[in-house]
Amino acid sequence: MPSRDTERIAVVGGGPGGLYAAALLKRLRPGREITVWERNAPEDTFGFGVVLSDETLGGIEHADPVVYAALSDAFVRWDTIDVVHRGTTQTSGGHGFAALERRTLLRILHERCASLGVRLRFRTEAPPTAELAACHDLVVAADGVHSATREAHARHFRPTVTHHRNRYIWLAADFAFDSFRFEIAETRHGVMQLHAYPFARPSPGDPGASTVIVEMRDEVWRAAGLDTCGTAESAERCAEVFAKALGGRPLRSNKSSWLTFATVTNQRWSHGRTVLLGDAAHTAHFSIGSGTKLAVEDALALAACLEEQPGLSAALAAYEAERRPVVLSTQRAAAASLRWFEELPQYAHQPPRRFAFNLLTRSRRVTHDNLRLRDPGFTAAVEEEFGCPPGTPPMFTPLRLRGLELRNRIVVSPMDMYSADADGVPGDFHLVHLGARALGGAGLVMTEMVCVSPEGRITLGCTGLWTDEQADAWTKITRFVHDTAPGAAIGVQLGHSGRKGSTRRMWEGIDEPLEDGNWPVVAASPLPYAHGVSQVPQALDRGGMDAVRDRFTEAARRAARCGFDLLELHCAHGYLLSGFLSPLTNRRTDAYGGSVENRLRFPLEVFDAVRAAWPRERPMTVRISATDWSHGGTSDEDALAVARAFAAHGADAIDVSTGQVVPEERPEYGRSYQTPYADRIRNVLGVPVIAVGAISSWDDVNSLLLAGRADLCALARPHLHDPHWTLHAAAAQCYTGPGAPWPLPYRAGSRPPPTGRTDAPKPRLTLD
Ligand SMILES: Cc1cc2nc3c(=O)[nH]c(=O)nc-3n(C[C@H](O)[C@H](O)[C@H](O)COP(=O)(O)OP(=O)(O)OC[C@H]3O[C@@H](n4cnc5c(N)ncnc54)[C@H](O)[C@@H]3O)c2cc1C
Ligand SMILES: Cc1cc2nc3c(=O)[nH]c(=O)nc-3n(C[C@H](O)[C@H](O)[C@H](O)COP(=O)(O)O)c2cc1C
Repeated sequence: MPSRDTERIAVVGGGPGGLYAAALLKRLRPGREITVWERNAPEDTFGFGVVLSDETLGGIEHADPVVYAALSDAFVRWDTIDVVHRGTTQTSGGHGFAALERRTLLRILHERCASLGVRLRFRTEAPPTAELAACHDLVVAADGVHSATREAHARHFRPTVTHHRNRYIWLAADFAFDSFRFEIAETRHGVMQLHAYPFARPSPGDPGASTVIVEMRDEVWRAAGLDTCGTAESAERCAEVFAKALGGRPLRSNKSSWLTFATVTNQRWSHGRTVLLGDAAHTAHFSIGSGTKLAVEDALALAACLEEQPGLSAALAAYEAERRPVVLSTQRAAAASLRWFEELPQYAHQPPRRFAFNLLTRSRRVTHDNLRLRDPGFTAAVEEEFGCPPGTPPMFTPLRLRGLELRNRIVVSPMDMYSADADGVPGDFHLVHLGARALGGAGLVMTEMVCVSPEGRITLGCTGLWTDEQADAWTKITRFVHDTAPGAAIGVQLGHSGRKGSTRRMWEGIDEPLEDGNWPVVAASPLPYAHGVSQVPQALDRGGMDAVRDRFTEAARRAARCGFDLLELHCAHGYLLSGFLSPLTNRRTDAYGGSVENRLRFPLEVFDAVRAAWPRERPMTVRISATDWSHGGTSDEDALAVARAFAAHGADAIDVSTGQVVPEERPEYGRSYQTPYADRIRNVLGVPVIAVGAISSWDDVNSLLLAGRADLCALARPHLHDPHWTLHAAAAQCYTGPGAPWPLPYRAGSRPPPTGRTDAPKPRLTLD
């Protein structure tokens, strides 16, 4: 990197990000002229303690041992988390934290900058960015969450600032907690939560100090009258609520006020010679660790890229390319954690150990498996409370639904194979496909959506249950499963395609009409799926509804005779019944449209008719799309109302999927991305749920079950990748019990085949 490219550097903002960047850049090239503008005085700093992880510290140690040594001296270290809930304390160990006072961090960085010759301009507003850019080679915008630089160039950075609904306040206590403490107070106004951690070690005559953040939902904050309290009164009220945790000691403020968290993202992090760093570029909810860590890591990356790359624009591009994925991953975890705290009241009923496990695994970064390594005793206690038989991972703990005992919690999710013959008869492919997955160990293998009538098919490759020939073919499959994969259950999913019918097989153009030979389609309302592409469906009249309902009932009777163990009614993904439920696809003005109760009316009629035709001892589930991922679609309240209604009518579990209702959806894909919808139904309504969607590891399955977010986990694509997914999960966990028996002819393969090994002795001794 030619040093002349970045000889004069302006840093806007003397927070941890700006100061650390300035110190590193100066240390790497002492000839640089670096100025930091900070509007505050050196001694007045907001906030109290900051937490830094071992990883961040490793980076600092490598880059600047002087700063590292000063930080290390100031750190408070601890490794336990206490979760206090309904009078009990659950302690989990092995977590490893280090924190220090923000003021101390800034002092160390001020001193380092001053000793290296960085110009620090305190109590000085930075000049406008354009002015800075005109006389500097590089402008580092480290001006925090409200960054004026970012806003001045909003057209280029394209920021999004999302404000969240919980209220929180940063306060401090003048004593050191001996662990991270999360505490829930169920007040008459609602649930309030405390996050507390030490940042100054106690010493003789000095009790140390802790950061205390109090957080609650907006409606609780208002109901408690905190919206009309000043800072001092707020601190007093918080100290009263958490008096036990604080040992009756007061809380103090430091320019504290009630805030709502804002998540900041930017589509670009640099423009010309100006680059965003730290909170100006991105924020991550405080509950997963401080933004300070990200800001400091940004500074490390920026300094390294300026050294490594041949010019400024390459360096800024490399900086963004390096940091963006890390920040995105942190922001995803932070979003899950933020949401968990927003939804916390729904978990208050959980038994204390499960509640603690749920809290610890909320961001998905800590999982069952790594918590087991960190603290085996705690995890074993949670498993015992869950009801795991000794030596049995949660996923192999049986579950009963009516008369059906499932041997484990894994479901092969329904997957249309588009491989039936022209009469909708399942063939050898279906026998081998479903049979293999039953042999593969899942507790429940679901068929694809089996159509209740020829015109209710999605494609000409879909199977059905409207003829005896189809029923005979299904019977062959259920017999195979019951005779050859004993202990595996097989369920049928019944559905009608509605406006998404008469389309091509998935690999020929999903949701596109047939090239010729289309049949007329029906729906709740005459709205095509894709405007200008799909057929306009005919709205069902009462006679049409009766006919469809009867088709479902006949198919259910056939399914019972075929020997299926469970029946799922497909009310998701924009097919006929789902089309009645979503406000985007149901525009009816009669008794079947409008309110969610009206939209439910026809799907419930079908459910009741099927339930009456389906043997009493066999369970029924209902698959729903709990959100349409589109403005004006199914709301959280709608999803709860729908699940509540089906459960009240006798559904044994709700299979909680999302989307595929309208083509303009914008799903937020990610690991287990649909699970929060299942979680809400389970914890708000107490209704058993099947979670589905991007659940791919057995560790995630165990975590979801133990945290009480799901009763069963359905996996679709992972079962296309590996029909023996469940058996392999058992082998990986060294589990050999009844929850995942290897079929006798396969037993010789129950251990992973040995891989290449070397017979050379391992290095053990070092000789000088
Ligand atoms: C009130 C508050 C309290 C917090 N408390 C904690 C805590 O206790 N622990 C924790 O880990 N995290 C805390 N955080 C979050 C944490 O401070 C940030 O994530 C982290 O500091 C990000 O570092 P940064 O350098 O990017 O930005 P900041 O630390 O926000 O620093 C930005 C700096 O830029 C200065 N500035 C902005 N515009 C100008 C301008 N035009 N001219 C001159 N100076 C300017 C500001 O005065 C500020 O000092 C707190 C945040 C807030 C808002
Ligand atoms: C090839 C394929 C076909 C599918 N067919 C159906 C279906 O017939 N009925 C249904 O409810 N879901 C169907 N789905 C959705 C899956 O059941 C599941 O909800 C989705 O793939 C998300 O789970 P995953 O991330 O584990 O794949 C299908 C998915 C795939 C990949």
